[in-house]
Amino acid sequence: MTRTPDRGLPTDRLLYGGDYNPEQWPEEVWKEDVVLMQRAGVNAATVGVFSWALLEPEEGVYDFGWLDRVLDTLHAGGIGVVLATPTASPPPWFTRAHPDALPVGPDGVRLTHGSRDTYAVSAPAYRAASRAIAERLAERYGDHPALLAWHVHNEYGTIDHGEHAAAAFRRWLQRRHGSLDELNRSWYTAFWSQRYTSWEDVLPPRRTQYLVNPGQAMDFRRFCSDEMLDAFREQRDAIRAAGSSAPVTTNFMLPTWNHLEQWSWSDELDVVSLDHYLDTVGPDGETHAAYGADLARSFSHGGPWLLMEQSTTSSTVAGRRAHKDVERVVRNSLSYLARGSQGALFFQWRAPAAGSEAWHGGIVPHTGEDSRSFRAFADLGRVVAALGEVAAPPADGRLVEADVAVLWHAEGWWATEAPQLPSDELDYSAAVRATHRALWHEGYAVDFAAPDADLSRYRVVCVPSLFAVGDAALASLRAFVERGGHLLVQPFTGYADEDLHVVPGGYPGRLRDLLGVRVQELHPLDAAERVQLSGGPGGELTGRVWSELLEPEGAEVVARYAGGELDGSPAITRAAAGAGAAHYASTFLDGGSLRRWLRGVCEEAGARRTVEGCPPPVEAVLRRGAHADHLFVLNHSGDAVRVSGPGTDVLSGEDAGEGLPVAARGWRVLRTGGRRGWRVEAAG
Ligand code: GAL
Repeated sequence: MTRTPDRGLPTDRLLYGGDYNPEQWPEEVWKEDVVLMQRAGVNAATVGVFSWALLEPEEGVYDFGWLDRVLDTLHAGGIGVVLATPTASPPPWFTRAHPDALPVGPDGVRLTHGSRDTYAVSAPAYRAASRAIAERLAERYGDHPALLAWHVHNEYGTIDHGEHAAAAFRRWLQRRHGSLDELNRSWYTAFWSQRYTSWEDVLPPRRTQYLVNPGQAMDFRRFCSDEMLDAFREQRDAIRAAGSSAPVTTNFMLPTWNHLEQWSWSDELDVVSLDHYLDTVGPDGETHAAYGADLARSFSHGGPWLLMEQSTTSSTVAGRRAHKDVERVVRNSLSYLARGSQGALFFQWRAPAAGSEAWHGGIVPHTGEDSRSFRAFADLGRVVAALGEVAAPPADGRLVEADVAVLWHAEGWWATEAPQLPSDELDYSAAVRATHRALWHEGYAVDFAAPDADLSRYRVVCVPSLFAVGDAALASLRAFVERGGHLLVQPFTGYADEDLHVVPGGYPGRLRDLLGVRVQELHPLDAAERVQLSGGPGGELTGRVWSELLEPEGAEVVARYAGGELDGSPAITRAAAGAGAAHYASTFLDGGSLRRWLRGVCEEAGARRTVEGCPPPVEAVLRRGAHADHLFVLNHSGDAVRVSGPGTDVLSGEDAGEGLPVAARGWRVLRTGGRRGWRVEAAG
């Protein structure tokens, strides 16, 4: 078995399959499921995610017989199991026995069962019940031959504002701040007569008369992430204590479920896993798949990770009710694999006959296996099997070589969700997405990095937005530039310290010296408003959301505002610092303008593209491996292209030296020993 030290599943093949809920079906269907799984090339089923009510029908009374038969049936058919602990969905008896363990909203309303995820994560009864069921499952199945990994819980993210949360929050605050004086300082409680004189008065940010204290709101989000991490750790440790050594994961959910600070979580997981649902049915969906995959690999420090869920051909996730054609399902799956996933798993194996997600598709749709989509999934299963060699990671554990990084931090997102910011248009996630999308279109491989990470491997680091910058982040950005890196900073970055206190003397406060600028005034724009810039790379540029009255303090002016109230004043700057440079755009550049600015800096910094000149929306991604590297060429366009260069087609064995066609909406994977030197061009 090949395994990157401490990262990923110990597997030398790629996993294919998805969530499997046999409890929804009579047992005769299970046998048919296994036959169909074999036909589709499925080798992994995620079992038990929502099975608590069946596994523990009464408190402390367990019924594992049906699960024994499921695991044995799957194993006999050669299907591995990712076994979940069912703690995302406590059964109705749990509510009856422990009403205090239900979550309470900020408005004081206590939820009840009848859906899922109705738990108060800090409630002692919930934690004890979760540990107990995890331990029982581990005792029983810890050495089951079908077991591939443990899937603890599902998408942690239920937020509770009740009494248990209040008590745990106070304990967390005492650890973080040490004293009430320090909490009062950090939360700036001199404002609005909020000074605390007793810990008992400190509460989660519940509904109040007007605006909640921003320090309290931010600390509560930090606390919730840490508290859920503790709950995860307890289950993981219970599994370990029961003697199971199978890898343990829990599935992160992107892009909207922003309740976790993923960097601190990922080091606690044996394998980072991700549920990813495209946020658009339009062409931008391809960049979104790349975004999720690059994030997951980065959370895994560049190593392997697992795509735990993606939708099949139809989804009913809010706002994403859409048909996804099977060609896109294939290209998206390859995009995740190219970027380091150890498999392509789906939600879900069989579309349910009823229930709240009856219209969320499955590998086996309502129409059954005699369907175009099931046949397409079976074809994809054969492709995933043929690509098995890519599963073995290179010795250094880094699957994708990127010269460009984008800073990511949950706290940056949380900070822009506060009310009463200078603009309601500030959107952290949109800024990060836009930066990643622009780099995708420019053909650069991208890593994400934590603010305090060692950035020395990169030539360019982008900070799309990071309101609060701590000491470690500041030191890391400074060291990066001094050693020769190029830092690109966009607005609403560095204005505050980690307590969200604005740095006096001029924005962007903490980064003022490094960027060599001083901003005197903020000029936010209305939603539809645009600002024009002149003198930038490639001529006129357009900005949105934000503009600033800026004076250089050592930086050179690259572009100026043209027209409007800031006419003629500096808009984009570049400051030489150490052996590198710090670039600043005081507005959020529109798509094409952002691309031009990034392109200019990346070229100046000598950042390398995977395939120079690869025409978007064709993407080329190189996944490094133990035995060979693999170039994935995914043609999201409606026109055929040609790929040429070192390597042979994995499926056909054809040599790509003289060029091979890649069909419209098609793909190729080349097995290669090279790292550069390919061409992708129009087929004509
Ligand atoms: C996921 C979740 C699944 C299912 C799916 C529907 O986020 O983990 O249980 O609800 O969404 O799209």
